[in-house]
Amino acid sequence: MDSIKLMMEEHQYILRMLAVVRKACLLIMNGEAINYQDFDKIIDFIRNYSDVHHHGKEEKLLFNEMVEHLGALGSKMVKQGMLIEHDMGRLYVHELVSSLERTKQGDEESRIDVIANAISYTHHMKRHIDKEDKVIYTFAKRQLSPEIIDKVNRDTIAFENIAKNNGIQDYYISLLKALEKKYLN
Ligand SMILES: [Fe+2]
Ligand SMILES: [Fe+2]
Repeated sequence: MDSIKLMMEEHQYILRMLAVVRKACLLIMNGEAINYQDFDKIIDFIRNYSDVHHHGKEEKLLFNEMVEHLGALGSKMVKQGMLIEHDMGRLYVHELVSSLERTKQGDEESRIDVIANAISYTHHMKRHIDKEDKVIYTFAKRQLSPEIIDKVNRDTIAFENIAKNNGIQDYYISLLKALEKKYLN
């Protein structure tokens, strides 16, 4: 198990969902009614796959080891960079959920906030993923000792097995594919 390789593959699934989000927003911009069921599915994916499953591994496994073993620079990259960016993503999603609640109550103007928060989230996550792929993961791979990399890999196997027993990976990849089929034809 190569934990970093796996997390880079997960980035690709997350980016694919961001394309669905953009298309769903385009439909709203063009005057279509908001599909609340689909937004519930998108938010479920963002919260439980992108955040709990993917950011969960970063925060509990790789980033933890970087803070512990890569000195002031490693600590700064994680605490003042990646963790703050994860929180920023959560804020956009929180605001997106509030905006959807308001439109559901009949507040037409909040359609703007649905689009603004959803699209800001996609821009934010694209930048975040690009930074991890090109800078943070590369730095971790180069600087962490083989023993620590092994430990992250072993911990990742355990994390993945628990998720697999709960059907997480299969469920969310199927959900993504179904939404892609609907929105990206
Ligand atoms: Fe991240
Ligand atoms: Fe990531």
